[in-house]
Amino acid sequence: MVFFDNARMEYVITNPKTPVKWTNYVGGLDFGGFIDHTGGSLICKGDPALNRIVKYIPQLPASEFKGETLYVRVKTDKGYEIISPFFIPVLTPYDQYSCRVGNGYSVIKSLISGIETEVTIFIPVKEQVEIRDIKVTNKRAYAVEIDIIPLVEYTHFEAIKQFNNADWVPQTMQSELIEQEDGLKVIKQFAFMNKDTDVNYFTSNMPMSSFETDRKIFLGDNGYGTYMNPLSLLNDELSSYLALREDNICAAMHHMGKVEFGDTVRVITQLGQYTNLESELKQITYFREAANVENAFKDLAKSYEGYFKRYQVTTPDEDMNTLVNIHNPKQSLTTKNWSRFLSLYQLGLGARGIGFRDTSQDLIGVMGLCPEETTDMMEKLLSTQRRSGCAMHQFYPLSMEASYGDSEEMEDRPDYYGDDHLWIVQTVCEYVKETGDLSFLDEEIPFYEKDSHGEPLESATVLEHLKRAVEFTRTHTGKHGLPYLGFADWNDTVNLPTGSESIFNANLYGKALIELEKLMRHIGDVEQAEQYLKQYGQMKLAVNEACWDGEWYVRYFDQKGIPLGSKENEYGKIFTNAQSWTVISGFAEKERAVAALDSVDEILNTKNGIKLSYPGFNGYDKEKGGVSTYPPGAKENGGIFLHANPWVMIAETMMGNGDRAYKYYSQINPISKNDKIDEFECEPYVFPQNILGDEHPQFGLGRNSWLSGTSSWVYTAGTKHILGINTDYSGLVIDPCIPKEWDGYMVSRIFRDVTYEIKVSNPDHISKGIKTITVDGKMIESNKIPVMEKGPVFVEVTMG
Ligand code: GLC
Repeated sequence: MVFFDNARMEYVITNPKTPVKWTNYVGGLDFGGFIDHTGGSLICKGDPALNRIVKYIPQLPASEFKGETLYVRVKTDKGYEIISPFFIPVLTPYDQYSCRVGNGYSVIKSLISGIETEVTIFIPVKEQVEIRDIKVTNKRAYAVEIDIIPLVEYTHFEAIKQFNNADWVPQTMQSELIEQEDGLKVIKQFAFMNKDTDVNYFTSNMPMSSFETDRKIFLGDNGYGTYMNPLSLLNDELSSYLALREDNICAAMHHMGKVEFGDTVRVITQLGQYTNLESELKQITYFREAANVENAFKDLAKSYEGYFKRYQVTTPDEDMNTLVNIHNPKQSLTTKNWSRFLSLYQLGLGARGIGFRDTSQDLIGVMGLCPEETTDMMEKLLSTQRRSGCAMHQFYPLSMEASYGDSEEMEDRPDYYGDDHLWIVQTVCEYVKETGDLSFLDEEIPFYEKDSHGEPLESATVLEHLKRAVEFTRTHTGKHGLPYLGFADWNDTVNLPTGSESIFNANLYGKALIELEKLMRHIGDVEQAEQYLKQYGQMKLAVNEACWDGEWYVRYFDQKGIPLGSKENEYGKIFTNAQSWTVISGFAEKERAVAALDSVDEILNTKNGIKLSYPGFNGYDKEKGGVSTYPPGAKENGGIFLHANPWVMIAETMMGNGDRAYKYYSQINPISKNDKIDEFECEPYVFPQNILGDEHPQFGLGRNSWLSGTSSWVYTAGTKHILGINTDYSGLVIDPCIPKEWDGYMVSRIFRDVTYEIKVSNPDHISKGIKTITVDGKMIESNKIPVMEKGPVFVEVTMG
């Protein structure tokens, strides 16, 4: 049984044997990572590639722990009985098991052989330490002697070197001890070159009678013991050996003494990394107090409550409410914080960092919820834009060193991605609409190019950055007057030869022009607004002249001018994005828009979501690139690539099709996958990046959960387009497009510090259209509620 506990904003897993590990995030990029539902963890500081603390090897069998685990030992007449409260790695049958996946924490509770253990795992807000609050209760009918032995396995800080297995790594891994009063200990671990700078440590608030830092000794028998049955745990004490090389761990022995029936013993552990021991010791002492840990846990809950309360809904659909109110904003925040850096599927080992296009979109997803947290990242993104207007593809947030992404690998291809720079236009406009903060547009930000001293060659205002972005695309067009593909557009697995054109880029450019045109009018630059309108018209013409294929729009033209995404093609006859985005850009007039979206519904939609294209390529084709490395139905090759689904929802709402938009929304809502876990396999509390399509024998199987642009865009589609509470420079626009059967719904939305309580009724059972709106009892003429000074503001909307 697995279920949503909405009152506690948690998801509860009651069987540790999920089809794949299900994860949750703790902390942030500055310190944090993910934990899995069997207590494993992957914790890093600052950069998952370059400063990794624990060793998490996802390829190990599910029955092995990764990163961290816990043993509880009970003394018997015959020796010791060893239990793992996280079920793995000992695998003793459990009587009860639950993992509560919460906001920035997980709580794992089990009852195994009469021993109940509850472990709360979290990272306090703004702190850099992973806390495990371990409580063990004796549920046997007699007193027992209990030992608590938490364990962490370290990695070399440069994660990839650890797995390359160079002799250099094991030769440098060392542990040391800081002995404190009353048997308290801090056990240090570091790579030799970092011994004075970046020192990992593990400690607890109870006396450690002994410890082990060498994996081989812990397992025993020259390493032929196992984690399932570590031979060293058969002795009263661990060896207290300080490792000088090899696989470093920290296992810490806590004798809790005799525990009566019903009594609970508690150990609080800390895993961290310090540069300055003195200040760290203060923090260590602070978090040894249970009361401080409990307060920090409450503060964590408060930080999420403040975030969620900015948009809360009550609709007739419980699954939608659960998604919009809790799990979708939580996933969007997580994705914003981690980009695609670190997950169970994207290990952050190699040269990845923050992606320009991904993060620009991720910021859009949280704009209504924490706009103040987006400016820093927007500045970083803009500072990796080039003077020509296009952008670097990826960058490391610590060093701000950027790269050209995969385009570096092919010399005969462009060194830019045709879409990257266009996304940021939407992001900045959304920010200004949400906050009204026009001053951001005047902020001076450098372009990426630097002189030999590392000084930027040129800086310009944010607005100028945006203008250069659209200007780059305007001046980089091909045979049909459409923007060049660059190395790739949003679908970064289709890498056609230099000179190819992308309809996606044309649409994204169109959308950017609409946004800039509106912004220019808002700030009073009518001339520039007219200019953008003209450029928009030119691209609209080019798209409609070149790209209409009869029943849908084509997706690309290659360097020879041959279309891809046309009925003439054997594979890749139709692509979703060419249809949704031609509607979103407004380039498709009604008749074509309707036909294109009907084609998506007929050819690309499945009960598990909309496929990215059809039919999938059936074998590797060097010309097409990465897309053809996948079997048909997987990932970008005709799979259900969820990120593209909400764009169809948005397009459908623009055409007034509330029923279809909602159908697409509901069919991918992960909350409704709870009873299909055997097929879906992934966490039902977050969107995965992809689901295998119906050309694949394992249709319906999800993968790559958590870090996906899906979250940001479904949130946008749900809140702004279906429920239709959208922002504009001068107010809140109400324009719902809902399923006809709904009687209505309610939204509570905080906008520019004022709460709007919005009640929408749908007496005529229509999808779109408004008869009347009253604001605090007074009727208003348009569907835009002006920015109000004070709240709460009561808004009543009657559709009709
Ligand atoms: C991955 C990439 C993203 C890309 C998408 C489609 O999610 O992170 O940048 O747009 O795949 O190829």
